[in-house]
Amino acid sequence: MSGPVLHVTGARPNFPKAAPVLRALDSLGVPQRLLHTGQHYGEQMFEVFFRQLGLPAPDINLGVGSGTHARQTAAIMTGLEDVLAEVRPALVVVYGDVNSTVAAALVAAKLGVPVAHVEAGLRSFDPSMPEEVNRMVTDRLSDLLFATSPDAVAHLGNEGVPAGRIHLVGNPMIDTLLANLDRFDETAARAAHHLGGRYVVATLHRPANVDGAGDASALVKALHGVAAQVPVMLPLHPRGRDSLQRAGLFDHPGVRVIDPLGYVEFLGLVRGAAAVVTDSGGVQEETTMLGVPCLTIRPNTERPVTITHGTNRLVTRERLADEVERCLAAGRPQTWPTPPLWDGGAGARIAGVIRQFLDGRS
Ligand code: UD1
Ligand code: UDP
Repeated sequence: MSGPVLHVTGARPNFPKAAPVLRALDSLGVPQRLLHTGQHYGEQMFEVFFRQLGLPAPDINLGVGSGTHARQTAAIMTGLEDVLAEVRPALVVVYGDVNSTVAAALVAAKLGVPVAHVEAGLRSFDPSMPEEVNRMVTDRLSDLLFATSPDAVAHLGNEGVPAGRIHLVGNPMIDTLLANLDRFDETAARAAHHLGGRYVVATLHRPANVDGAGDASALVKALHGVAAQVPVMLPLHPRGRDSLQRAGLFDHPGVRVIDPLGYVEFLGLVRGAAAVVTDSGGVQEETTMLGVPCLTIRPNTERPVTITHGTNRLVTRERLADEVERCLAAGRPQTWPTPPLWDGGAGARIAGVIRQFLDGRS
């Protein structure tokens, strides 16, 4: 083997996906390094996750911070190019669909370093989402494509990716969820937030929901409609803070806006919720495993398996209050299906394929 495996993380959803892969490769004795781009930073969006998930401190932090798409992607690319020249990794592993993912795949591919994409093949077929562009480009450049669900495998096949590169391995984010289940304490969450009866958790950060004044205003109206029925706990992603505040989010006492939570505290709160309102990708998956009804405020999802094999439903802002009312009337499901291979073994499967790939090149 010529060099270590280099993992690249950038944003909050990358961390629970990377943790089980690093752990499984470690147990196989594969040398590895971790680079954080700095796309997300600070205690709430970065440090708390590394601590709680037992991730090693990054060997390298590019510290790129926030910026426009082009500026952020370019900063990651120029920083990473120097690192790759020095580290000379045998493989670069990228996660999910954020700007850090595509930036790293581009740099590695141009330097002839093979790329592995964890969570390959998801498609919303909505080109207005920056994540859809990031996913398509990353998959095109990847040598190893790790899929979380059969629909993702089918999309990659339809796009002409050779079958030998595609590996259906399950979902490493769910490995992390299952490994930490005992830490998700709904009683502690209720006590911390003084919650007596039923409540809803909301998390919202998609540009289509929070960036424009009209969209933010429609979202706030919908959340106020929910808050008229049941308290809404809203750990607010920094992206929407200003626009949602301007749109009057804080005007209803039933909407309890708090800072983003750590992974353990967030999922403790979610575990006890009557329903979750979200536009997050990962939260659609986590609620599916926890059996918490999930109302996704989006016209589409790249994770349809959470609808066919989970608790997720797509809703409009206009219908949200009625859908929450239905959830409250129906109660939490007693049984529900979960997607195939979401069993806690994805990290080990990914590590096994990577090990074989590296052995084949040495
Ligand atoms: C990014 C991802 C999105 C993912 C989300 C997860 C892209 C294009 N988008 O969106 O796919 O769902 O992360 O959370 O990669 N900010 C802070 N502190 C931080 C990070 C961001 O205050 O630690 C603020 C800044 O004002 C920044 C804004 O949030 O401009 C947006 O951050 P950015 O990383 O560009 O995109 P996200 O909306 O976080
Ligand atoms: N999450 C968290 N605290 C919060 C909100 C979310 O720990 O206040 C976790 C969530 O459980 C999941 C991940 O962040 O593991 C999802 O990240 P996010 O919603 O930011 O990104 P997406 O999945 O939409 O790309």
